[in-house]
Amino acid sequence: MRKPMIAGNWKMHKTRDEALQFIYSVNVKVPNKEYVDSVVCAQAPVLRDLVKRQGEHLRIGAQNMHQETEGAYTGELSAALLEDLNVDYVIIGHSERREYFNETDETVNQKVHQAFRYELTPILCVGESLEIREKGDTNLFVTKQIKEALKGLKDEQVKELVVAYEPIWAIGTGKTATPEEANEAIKNIREVITTLYDAGVSDNVRILYGGSVKPANIDDLLAQSDIDGALVGGASLNAKDFLTLVDAALNKLQK
Ligand code: PGA
Repeated sequence: MRKPMIAGNWKMHKTRDEALQFIYSVNVKVPNKEYVDSVVCAQAPVLRDLVKRQGEHLRIGAQNMHQETEGAYTGELSAALLEDLNVDYVIIGHSERREYFNETDETVNQKVHQAFRYELTPILCVGESLEIREKGDTNLFVTKQIKEALKGLKDEQVKELVVAYEPIWAIGTGKTATPEEANEAIKNIREVITTLYDAGVSDNVRILYGGSVKPANIDDLLAQSDIDGALVGGASLNAKDFLTLVDAALNKLQK
């Protein structure tokens, strides 16, 4: 059985004080990391503070990093520095980065490779727009995103990878994909991975759903066969909600 994961994506929210307050109220309450991966992805300047106070069971992630090792890339963040700070995860290819910061399938693939070089676990985001869904092309579009993102990766790397299926029309809109819609898209992602890698690899990959996940809908999403957890924006800003979500993941395991 795959270990469930709840990853909070704070986006461009929280001052240092607010981030510390959150960490102090959840770091001793999240479930044992042997059973659930509880992760918070924060803005870069607070990562060090959060890692220092993450406690035994919470883990910290970044929201982006550059694909090059170092150089004249003003304002960018390197994988080497994230590794140095003991950050464990990095979100790659979030739809907001693809839309506002011109990330392409090619740079996403380069970033995934770079994350592995520095022992960071990528949380690779894919997902379709409303227009694509309405045309009935969701699986076609997401299949292409997955194939491009995984190019050149080895079996052991893909096994470690976390994928987040986030339909763009469900992000921050309050409009969640139905659990069945989310599960169907996630099953397709797993099938695509099955065609590309040795047996056993796709069984190991955790695939999360993201898009307006909250305490009220997490149980129904996690009840689906292929949904291994959630990447959560808005609801992860609130410590109480975040704890409800990680507890729901623990319950999934116990069912
Ligand atoms: P949301 O964001 O939960 O606020 O919809 C999800 C995400 O963008 O990762």
